[in-house]
Amino acid sequence: MDSRFSTVASSRTQTSGMVVRQRDPNNLEMPFDRLDDYITPTELFYVRSHFSPPRLDVESYRLSIGGAVQHEVRLSYADLRALPAQSRVATLECAGNGRVFLSPHVPGAQWQLGAVGNAEWTGVPLSIVLERAGLSDDVCELVLVGADRGVPTEEPKPAGPIAYARSIPLALQGDVLLAYAMNGEDLSVDHGYPVRAIVPGQYGMASVKWLTDVVATTQPFQGYWQTADYAYWDDASGTPVRRPLAGMKLKAQIARPHVYETLKPGRPYTILGAAWAGNTDAAEIWISLDDGATWVEGAFLDPPNRGAWRRWKYDWITPAQPGRYTLLARAKGADGSVQPDRHDPNFGSYVIDHPLPMEIFIANA
Ligand code: MTE
Repeated sequence: MDSRFSTVASSRTQTSGMVVRQRDPNNLEMPFDRLDDYITPTELFYVRSHFSPPRLDVESYRLSIGGAVQHEVRLSYADLRALPAQSRVATLECAGNGRVFLSPHVPGAQWQLGAVGNAEWTGVPLSIVLERAGLSDDVCELVLVGADRGVPTEEPKPAGPIAYARSIPLALQGDVLLAYAMNGEDLSVDHGYPVRAIVPGQYGMASVKWLTDVVATTQPFQGYWQTADYAYWDDASGTPVRRPLAGMKLKAQIARPHVYETLKPGRPYTILGAAWAGNTDAAEIWISLDDGATWVEGAFLDPPNRGAWRRWKYDWITPAQPGRYTLLARAKGADGSVQPDRHDPNFGSYVIDHPLPMEIFIANA
């Protein structure tokens, strides 16, 4: 084994400053008002895990590419590290981010704004290993399987433990990284050490951690996290059908001020936030300082970069009048899309992409 590789994870997720939504397994949220840099520091990057993280050893670790392929490929960690690598910045948002804003209350981890982050991921393009395996002509999906196992919580659920597994359409394979590093360091255990998938543009559920198998299928995968969980009702035809969640919807969030913050009256204050989308770029950012009655345009701090967020700001002079104010942010996409006014109930407790009300106070002079 090359001495550059650690045999156990060297970096564990630091939890200082994170909001704990669940312990065992760790489900941790970034306090979103700590948004500063374009790249979210690893210690502030949210953690979403369904089961306890498996402790994988890099010496015995193998990634298998199988299913409808010409030759099954098995790669060690060292094999992967020897292949050409790429780095790219991608935003991951958990599909349940913002759930606490839904009314009436819905079950699940009560994420506020911080189940989203933007990191630089380094690894091997999935296309390189798929080429070695040789996909059959009729492959339509790739099932990404993690080494973590357990009994899921939401009904309908299988009787016994299952592995976390999620499929992606074959068409997405060109963008997928088999990532072993995050922000220039080996992945931490919580973020998928030693190898995870990064599927830019999709909600976080597709970026399978502790990845051990990629299975090419000729039929759409109907696993638990495809149908029971991380799915929605598509009622476009009038008869609702269950479909897996896919691309991150266009969304903007306000980081500062934070909810219920008290600001001084009649002073300059820079409102700061981030906006992102899976299948387009956030092209305009509009802010309302009066609960949606009027809107003003903000300015982006970062250039467009598909699959990564753009921070934005609005230089405000706070009102002279003390009281309670509701701030909103709404992005417009390069494809002309805008965020909806309301949450679509067909998405259940997921895809919270409407402008989220940030109530703040202006103090007495
Ligand atoms: N992969 C495995 N093996 N097990 C999991 O529980 N959670 C998914 C995804 N990959 C999960 C997984 C979900 S729902 C999200 S939002 C992202 O990982 C979160 O990635 P992070 O914990 O690195 O932020």
